[in-house]
Amino acid sequence: MKYYPPSNHIYYENSDIPINKLNIHDSQLIHELERELLLKSYEYFHTNLTEGTCFDQNYLQTIHKHLFETLYAWAGEYRAVNISKGTSMFCPYMNLDGFSEDIFKQLESENYLRDYEDESTKEKFAKRLAYYMCELIVLHPFSEGNGRSLRLFFDMIVTYNGYEYIDYADTLNDDAFITASIDCMQTDCSKMELIILTGLSKSH
Ligand SMILES: Nc1ncnc2c1ncn2[C@@H]1O[C@H](COP(=O)(O)OP(=O)(O)O)[C@@H](O)[C@H]1O
Ligand SMILES: [Mg+2]
Repeated sequence: MKYYPPSNHIYYENSDIPINKLNIHDSQLIHELERELLLKSYEYFHTNLTEGTCFDQNYLQTIHKHLFETLYAWAGEYRAVNISKGTSMFCPYMNLDGFSEDIFKQLESENYLRDYEDESTKEKFAKRLAYYMCELIVLHPFSEGNGRSLRLFFDMIVTYNGYEYIDYADTLNDDAFITASIDCMQTDCSKMELIILTGLSKSH
């Protein structure tokens, strides 16, 4: 018998709607709810941002948990299955904890990118944001909701440094963000860097 690796059994049969606590099977309804939850999470994490906020693994997991816990039992938890999108195979789940630790140790060694308030460092800031965005896209730690959690995570880092939320403009609708993410799989962050640099502006 052919061996199949564990797959992502979080969806209702023959659908792309994750099994949820409210038993919602309607795709439009679930998307609307998720949109509201995302806005609420932005508000919550923005309000609770302090000088001492550490953008570590725990923070990322807390974001995912806060965002999805009214709907999904696995909110905030790293996945325990292998997953792919298109031809991209994300970090094997066996390596998730180790690779995540490596990424967040490196982020800690850069003081969680908390020293980029000075606008003269904007280009370097965009470069470092894109680097970690790419690393975390390849990690793809959650079963679902990685894109949204990661963007919220980095939006809090830029807010910390006195910037507006990154303006992804059309890149989330016209596939540019996904194309950039696919390049990340080959450790090429250049497209992501340009997207982030273009979308980065200081709050006034
Ligand atoms: N083919 C792909 N190769 C690499 N990364 C991809 C691919 N397709 C999507 N992605 C990345 O995965 C993210 C979507 O992951 P997902 O867990 O579904 O999050 P969300 O539901 O919040 O969009 C995208 O934002 C993008 O960064
Ligand atoms: Mg998704």
